[in-house]
Amino acid sequence: MEQYIIKGGAELKGEVTIDGAKNAALGILAAAIMADEDVLIENIPNVNDVNVMLEAIAHIGAKVERIDAHTVRINGAAITSCEVDDDFMRRIRASYYFIGALLGKYKNAKVPLPGGCAIGARPIDQHIKGFEALGAKIDIKGGYLSTTAARLKGAHIYFDVVTVGATINVMMAASMAEGQTIIENAAREPHIVDVANFLNSMGAKIKGAGTDTIRINGVSKLHGTQYAIIPDQIEAGTFMCMAAACRGDILIKNVIPKHLESITAKLTEMGNTVQEYDEAVRVIGAEKQRHTDVKTLPYPGFPTDMQPQIAVTLALAEGASIVTESIFENRFKYVEELRRMGAEVRVERNVAVIDGIERFSGASISAPDLRAGAALVIAALQADGISSIDGIGYIKRGYEDFEKKITALGGKIKYINDPNITEYA
Ligand code: UD1
Repeated sequence: MEQYIIKGGAELKGEVTIDGAKNAALGILAAAIMADEDVLIENIPNVNDVNVMLEAIAHIGAKVERIDAHTVRINGAAITSCEVDDDFMRRIRASYYFIGALLGKYKNAKVPLPGGCAIGARPIDQHIKGFEALGAKIDIKGGYLSTTAARLKGAHIYFDVVTVGATINVMMAASMAEGQTIIENAAREPHIVDVANFLNSMGAKIKGAGTDTIRINGVSKLHGTQYAIIPDQIEAGTFMCMAAACRGDILIKNVIPKHLESITAKLTEMGNTVQEYDEAVRVIGAEKQRHTDVKTLPYPGFPTDMQPQIAVTLALAEGASIVTESIFENRFKYVEELRRMGAEVRVERNVAVIDGIERFSGASISAPDLRAGAALVIAALQADGISSIDGIGYIKRGYEDFEKKITALGGKIKYINDPNITEYA
């Protein structure tokens, strides 16, 4: 069994470099198959979700050449199948981006439907609504979504909820539809802008990404490109919370500080020091930190993917904090584990009330999902004593070299794949 064994209490100090954004990479890799020429993508994070996406791309016949850990060349000219295997959907939800990419390019796609997942039910009704508005016929049978269109025609689409996935998916399909598509109530996350910039570098005509109205003028063909993915906002935010919670001093390099503003604001409100540079932030954790309230919201609000990490930080601040999760219904599963470490947290529906304590105590805990897993690592790094964390396959889906980066900062963390070892040695 894969585990992290962590000895809490070491001083965290130094520099860490952030890798490319996982969620941008997943959209960009799917979009890359829409060209019949070489597409060179740089700064891709070497994490499991991305590697599964690359396998899925190769599986439908596209050429995938891994040039190094962070660079890949893709050519969609040789695609032989518009059907994505069920196995990929089981491993990464983002395989649903194949619907937008294949439908846009070939007017045809057959992709397994994603089920619910650890953090919530996660319907895809808005994706379907967008594709239908473009003229696609959707048929759901045997767990697969099949879609075809004689032609795709631009449309005016208003999303009922702000959704990252549907915004990216429909943007891809609309890039190769006839005429103009207007997406209203679009998500504004940094990775939406990155996918739009990438598609534009392939010849798409997308304007307004990053605002709630995106205008797309369809083109009949997309061409090759070379593109570097933006740094990962959530990986950066995780190290920011790590510095604050562990009272460390960490310079987090290769970031876009603007993307981190909601996190910076909360950490500053709590009494921490956050210094911004052009492409870095330095977080110095204050000894005494104040409580505050956090509510997750679509960008530029506080990201749901940072909710567990900020909750762990607040669990070590003086006084009572309230954390409200407004995006996913099942994102407090880690609280049980955190309580085993001494945290005082009560959850009622989508609200957690946290009474700060001085220090967690080491325990055997289990990561329930990706971001919660990272948050529990932060808790273990602060804790008195030794913790073992299993379920770290989740963490490896989204954090490259997590334990190496923490070790370089002075943290005592070991990756172990042996059921007999549960001690830090
Ligand atoms: C993406 C991110 C995920 C992040 C989330 C919110 C990727 C690969 N994943 O997930 O890490 O936590 O954004 O920032 O980029 N919804 C519907 N109908 C739909 C689509 C969504 O009701 O058709 C709801 C969802 O249930 C959720 C909310 O809209 O309550 C936001 O979901 P969405 O932004 O689509 O999340 P994902 O794209 O799945």
